[in-house]
Amino acid sequence: MKSDKLIVLGVTGSIAAFKAADLCSKLAKEFEVQVMMTENACRFVTPVTFRTLSRRPVITTLWADESEWRPRHVELADEAALFAVVPATANFLAKAAHGIADDSLSTFSATFAGKHIYAPAMNPKMWAHPACQENVTILKQRGVVFAGPACGDVACGAAGSGRMLEVPELIDIIKKHL
Ligand SMILES: Cc1cc2nc3c(=O)[nH]c(=O)nc-3n(C[C@H](O)[C@H](O)[C@H](O)COP(=O)(O)O)c2cc1C
Repeated sequence: MKSDKLIVLGVTGSIAAFKAADLCSKLAKEFEVQVMMTENACRFVTPVTFRTLSRRPVITTLWADESEWRPRHVELADEAALFAVVPATANFLAKAAHGIADDSLSTFSATFAGKHIYAPAMNPKMWAHPACQENVTILKQRGVVFAGPACGDVACGAAGSGRMLEVPELIDIIKKHL
């Protein structure tokens, strides 16, 4: 039977965003999934894909719903059981580490007090950059769970640490924390 637990699935602007569609499809069979995409994520995969797979409208902006008095990110922060960002860009990690809330996803991240799981995906040089590593340290100290990254080939042709975990591994980690 499908659980009524709600997972907010954040998708950011990485080439690994296509894997988030598979993750969304699998999670939506067992849980309620609300997808939130950054503007840059929408350049990689369209909201239509996630809307269809999750069977819910996708949130891409803070300013969409004029029929509700309560901002959606505040409402969702009360409703959600878990927040997973798959893939998580270096930019998203930097914003989350410093409480920057300038779009729907980062605003939700700054509002939600429950469990955050981030699955980084990026070029190994970006992952190894001291700024990124300092942001990761800040987030880990705050209790954020990092799902990966793994070592291996990344889409831009480089190899090293920065490859996003595979969907089954991500599902295991998400379920463990629900
Ligand atoms: C083709 C392409 C692939 C990219 N892949 C990644 C990636 O895997 N990880 C990452 O951190 N940034 C990647 N970027 C850069 C991000 O898209 C960029 O930093 C953007 O500002 C992230 O925005 P967002 O975090 O709001 O989604 C990529 C950019 C391009 C053009």
